[in-house]
Amino acid sequence: MTRPRVSIIMGSASDWETMRPAEETLESLGIKCDTRVMSAHRTPDRLTAYIARAEEEGIEVVIAGAGGAAHLAGVTAAYTLLPVLGVPIDSSALQGLDALLATVQMPGGIPVATFAIGKAGAKNAALFAAAILARSDPAVREKLAKFREAQAAAVPERPR
Ligand code: RP5
Repeated sequence: MTRPRVSIIMGSASDWETMRPAEETLESLGIKCDTRVMSAHRTPDRLTAYIARAEEEGIEVVIAGAGGAAHLAGVTAAYTLLPVLGVPIDSSALQGLDALLATVQMPGGIPVATFAIGKAGAKNAALFAAAILARSDPAVREKLAKFREAQAAAVPERPR
């Protein structure tokens, strides 16, 4: 059985609708992922136990989505050498701006690659994860190239 190569983690089950495009995008590219809920605040032990095992279990990239004072991606990055892709989620009164700043403004030393707020960020994080895997996996590279071709072909020449 193929092992998951990308983890998609989110701070709450309420983040799932926003993070769903990440899973859908990876699946459409034939990349198996492991999708979980874990919070840097509410379930810190679940997070650290999961991240401690991730690399040895075959995970190559982690996508972490969280809203509010979003620490999930940063704490995850602190516990692993895997690349961590952060997705700020619009789940608060500040409409994701708080999560964007919390995720992107990592002090020097522990990087988090930060994407757009919301579903576009989730989708692009998945495409970026695929681009990372594509460096050493010609099958993923081919699927990514086909995705780009299909996307370009779907753009009309004129608006109507
Ligand atoms: C964050 O708090 C989660 O990532 C979520 O975006 C936000 C709100 O969570 P719930 O109160 O809906 O569980 O940790």
